[in-house]
Amino acid sequence: MDEKLIQEINEKTPILDLVSEFVSLSKRGKNYMGLCPFHQEKTPSFSVSPEKNIAKCMSCGEGGSPINFYRKIKNISFEQACQELAIRAGIEVKATNVRKEPFEKEFKLMDEAANFYQFNLKHSEKGHEVLDYLNKREVSEKLTDHFRLGYAPPFGNTLYQLLKDKGYDTSDMIKLGVVKQSDDGSYYDLFSDRLIFPITDPRGNVVGFSGRSLNPKEAAKYINSPESVIFKKGSLLYHLFEASSVIRKSKQVILYEGFFDVISSFGAGIENGVASMGTALTKEHAKLIKNVTSSVIIAYDGDRAGLKASEQAISILEKEGLKIEVLTIPEKMDPDDFIKAYGAEKYENLFAEFLKDPYQFRYAYYKMGKDLQNANDIKTFKLNVIKMIDYADASIRQIYLKKLSEDLGIPIEDITSKKMDIPTRILPKPDKKSMIDRHTRAEYYLIFAMLRDKKHAKTIQKQLKRTDFADHVAASIRSKIIDYYEEHEVLLLDDLMDTLPLDERSFLEDIILNDWFWKMKIEMQDIEILDYAKLVKEASLKRRLQYLNEKIKLSGDHPKDKDLKERDLVLKELKHKPREV
Ligand code: UTP
Ligand code: MN
Repeated sequence: MDEKLIQEINEKTPILDLVSEFVSLSKRGKNYMGLCPFHQEKTPSFSVSPEKNIAKCMSCGEGGSPINFYRKIKNISFEQACQELAIRAGIEVKATNVRKEPFEKEFKLMDEAANFYQFNLKHSEKGHEVLDYLNKREVSEKLTDHFRLGYAPPFGNTLYQLLKDKGYDTSDMIKLGVVKQSDDGSYYDLFSDRLIFPITDPRGNVVGFSGRSLNPKEAAKYINSPESVIFKKGSLLYHLFEASSVIRKSKQVILYEGFFDVISSFGAGIENGVASMGTALTKEHAKLIKNVTSSVIIAYDGDRAGLKASEQAISILEKEGLKIEVLTIPEKMDPDDFIKAYGAEKYENLFAEFLKDPYQFRYAYYKMGKDLQNANDIKTFKLNVIKMIDYADASIRQIYLKKLSEDLGIPIEDITSKKMDIPTRILPKPDKKSMIDRHTRAEYYLIFAMLRDKKHAKTIQKQLKRTDFADHVAASIRSKIIDYYEEHEVLLLDDLMDTLPLDERSFLEDIILNDWFWKMKIEMQDIEILDYAKLVKEASLKRRLQYLNEKIKLSGDHPKDKDLKERDLVLKELKHKPREV
């Protein structure tokens, strides 16, 4: 794309019209304001200037020219955005300017296959039986068309023949998994006598298929296209492309487990459903969702497996900062069963009555089936709840500590103050928001230990120099704690806090005192402290080694003897020290 063309596209795309498709705006003087579509906010800071023809968020800075805005909101490449906007603006983009889709050939083949399956559903005898089946499941013609449902005939290689006649390469058919080769060298269709669900990528290309057997005796209820260059189940959500404009408008997506849940829900008028296709939710799935909305309702099956999957999905979605609610379907049904049994209206009512926030959901889930007189059950339940509220807001923590105390029949203080025998291996992983590595975390743990006990402080003083701490604030606090113990036997936290400068105080407040480890008053054993100290020492030595290596390299042919000697020492020490915690 040349500069001139880009400029023309920007000029001929009125920003106000474009943004209005995605954001509801209200006029403020010369400009228009709305809620930023790129981050979560309650007061509008997304500003659109028709005069300058730009749109930008005053708070997060996202946005820009029409092309930039469009590219970000649709999560497409710059090229793609230019092409789409050029078409809207009626600008002719010369063929030389249009970059070829990298998988154009593959997408075409899959689209052809989708058409073939669709055709067979509507125009074959066997297909009509499948239509009857769909009919029984209350999947109307409108739904069948919207979801491009199809039928793979049972004859063995009709799709292969068709694609071959149309000039597609057999190797591509195999690569995309629609055709397979048998031992005798002949080719056959992967899907045979199955109801077909085409699966699209976030840009609407058919990238794979799932086929449902209609024979209840058949062992594999669904079979899916194998993973391919364009089909990666871990980063695809069923019906996301088709639903994305409804999702944007309603500012919410409903996450289902299965195809039929999405379809029935759509039929019931709830059109913003997508499905993770029975696989565990991944970070990529969460990111896909985040591209279109910041709010998710998990509506997995009401059975045990569905609840478990919901719990896992929460933790994935939470990490992406999405707002989460969980719809628990009564009577262990899946959403599709529920709609069939009770109808669309009752289903819609569920969203008013049965939505739980992720804490409510998990609390109930952890408590479910537990005998709170049984020591093992008590322990598991308590641990799960405490892990859940680890990084939660103080008021949420308070609510659940209170609930725990009520359910267990013990005072709140006793939940947290007693030493808990939590083995270190199940300690929660460092939260993503803090993004700290294990060395830094080891430093924090050492600070906890020092704050708790003079004995630990002495051990750490012996093991580590101040400069062994990578975090300079932690290093300074370490020295101050040691100084403090020169005059006191027991450390009073408030006392110490009063002597600290602001940055060190907020370090303690934010990082240390908020940490689960600290809050739970977990006692550390001497051996653990030594392990953490070793980890910190090792990191420190590695940093020193890197520094020395660079220094020696820079000095060319004349490295200092002193540096070489020190490097030998460091290397030797590293050989003794390394030990994984
Ligand atoms: P379910 O077994 O709950 O299927 O699997 P379903 O959607 O309720 O289908 P019906 O109502 O019995 O017809 C949920 C999802 O898991 C994937 C499919 O995406 C399915 O929709 N799945 C399930 C597979 O990929 N393979 C399987 O063998 C089963
Ligand atoms: Mn079902």
